[in-house]
Amino acid sequence: MKIINKKILSQIQGAKVTRIEVAAPGIAEKAKPGQFVSVMVSGEGERIPLTVVDKDEEKGTITLIFQEVGLTTKLLGKLDSGDSLYALAGPLGHATELKNYGKVVLVGGGVGIAEIYPVAKGLKHAGNFITAILGARTRELLILEEELKRVSDELYIATDDGSYGRKGFVTDVLKDLLNYKLPTTNYQLIYAVGPIPMMKKVCLVTKELNSKTIVSLNALMVDATGMCGCCRVTVAGETKFSCVDGPEFDGKAVDWDELEKRNRVYADKEQHICRLR
Ligand code: FAD
Ligand code: FES
Ligand code: MG
Repeated sequence: MKIINKKILSQIQGAKVTRIEVAAPGIAEKAKPGQFVSVMVSGEGERIPLTVVDKDEEKGTITLIFQEVGLTTKLLGKLDSGDSLYALAGPLGHATELKNYGKVVLVGGGVGIAEIYPVAKGLKHAGNFITAILGARTRELLILEEELKRVSDELYIATDDGSYGRKGFVTDVLKDLLNYKLPTTNYQLIYAVGPIPMMKKVCLVTKELNSKTIVSLNALMVDATGMCGCCRVTVAGETKFSCVDGPEFDGKAVDWDELEKRNRVYADKEQHICRLR
């Protein structure tokens, strides 16, 4: 669980995204695209879920990319190469179904770009035509552009402030892409990861289409093994546990309003704990 190397990918406007490579041979051997690990930075702290972005079976390492948003991710950001994580469990969750769908659009917003990268690699390897749409608030916050270029057949970029690529949101690009190319191009799968409002909007855009829309949900997780019920989500009217039934679900069937409400439940306590430190 030692950090082998660390690189800050972006750091502006109070936003910091870091990549770490961690020695975890057992996880590296088994992890598949779409899966995550549960990380404890210290013995007194909480567990947080982070996606396995890459792995090197020969070296026995996995790569994690995280954005500092609160106490635990800030503490993780303070660790350096040579430091060790207190605990690491995984791989967790269902892996992405990697098959040849045909034409696939992958949409990543913010640190969600890190989460679509292993899926893009896996789907490319399975023979799909990959269109990637990446979004960030501003150019300096855009991560993994080169890596995604290498595994995509087409790549579009949107920034909120227009500093790079198109000015606007990933959903504006998706809407135009679908309007322009349909009905000549039929996308069999749309796969989206990012903030909840982004994933919700992607599903609104694809609502009328036949294309399957998969999202990877960032529900609050505690044990991440199906025991506590914290990560409950409603999908097609049924209760699911995001950690063991997901984290991927049919986006068009997710109860987004409930998920938004549940993810805000501890917001005041998270602020409070951060101020205490
Ligand atoms: P806090 O101040 O505690 O919380 C800030 C916000 O983060 C909360 O409002 C909530 O939306 C979210 N959050 C807090 N605690 C949890 C928790 N235990 N489980 C889930 N979300 C939480 N982030 C990345 O930067 N990179 C990733 O690769 C990544 N992969 C994820 C994969 C999965 C399956 C899930 C569910 C989440 C993933 N996240 C990822 C989100 C990451 O877990 C949260 O950003 C992190 O837990 C925040 O903890 P904190 O203490 O720093 O912030
Ligand atoms: Fe406890 Fe999913 S995190 S059941
Ligand atoms: Mg926290």
